[in-house]
Amino acid sequence: MIKRAMTHKGSLVVVGTGIQLGGHLTLEAQAHITHAEKVLYVSGSKIMGDWIVSLNKTAESLAHFYAPDKPRAATYSDMADTIVAAVRGGQRVCAVFYGHPGVFVQPSHEAIQKARAEGFDAKMLPGISAEDCLFADLGFDPADHGCQSFEATDFLIRTRIFDPYSTLIIWQIETIGQLNQKTEVGRNGLHVLVEYLQKSYTATHPVTVYQAAELPVQQPFIHTCPLAHLADAPIPHVATLYVPPLHEKPLDPAMLTKLGLRTEKR
Ligand SMILES: C[S@@+](CC[C@H](N)C(=O)[O-])C[C@H]1O[C@@H](n2cnc3c(N)ncnc32)[C@H](O)[C@@H]1O
Repeated sequence: MIKRAMTHKGSLVVVGTGIQLGGHLTLEAQAHITHAEKVLYVSGSKIMGDWIVSLNKTAESLAHFYAPDKPRAATYSDMADTIVAAVRGGQRVCAVFYGHPGVFVQPSHEAIQKARAEGFDAKMLPGISAEDCLFADLGFDPADHGCQSFEATDFLIRTRIFDPYSTLIIWQIETIGQLNQKTEVGRNGLHVLVEYLQKSYTATHPVTVYQAAELPVQQPFIHTCPLAHLADAPIPHVATLYVPPLHEKPLDPAMLTKLGLRTEKR
């Protein structure tokens, strides 16, 4: 009898840790981390990394790809290539990123696309992002006024059009204009952001610098100041900016009529 050789085909699942150590990890994500043949991770902190290793001894950090003068895009490609190489090697790979693994995370999407292009099974599971924490901690519903979310540098270099009557959320305000691995908060970039926002809001419009708690014992960092003071405000090592709407946008009478929500006066 000829024995047919068993070929073990690699696969990839990408999961997120959530923002807060332990409590934000979904049961599904935890099961994938625990049972993977190889875990590769990018964690928000050393303690988060240690915890991932405690769940699966094969876990290996991809943080060594970061380097001070290396463009972030090159770092992300190296991470994606390393993940796909492990899949190619025939392993069931779990790649772990902090927060939601597909929100403001380039290597996770790149690895999935490359693995699928080579015929491997690859999928992503959702996780709790910084924005999810922001809705909870700052206490507003994105449904109320609509909600726009931008990456800070992209927002400025493409002069993104936005509606100041809707909520505005700006990510990565600590690294504005920095394409390499950051060393310190980019105050010049914050000045440019304030200048751009002041075309749509008054100098006294309140803005909130936000950092969700990363440990169960921590409180979120919430600092509200007038827009004009933002560039000098305390900025944590990771921070997201919340800009509330100017005020309620007036209703459009023609649209109300079109939708049958109001009958036109005769
Ligand atoms: C590379 S992105 C990663 C986002 C992450 N995947 C998520 O789902 O939230 C980094 C940016 O996320 C935001 N961020 C990450 N951790 C945060 C925290 N603890 N509190 C507030 N914002 C955070 C900041 O805007 C930061 O510049």
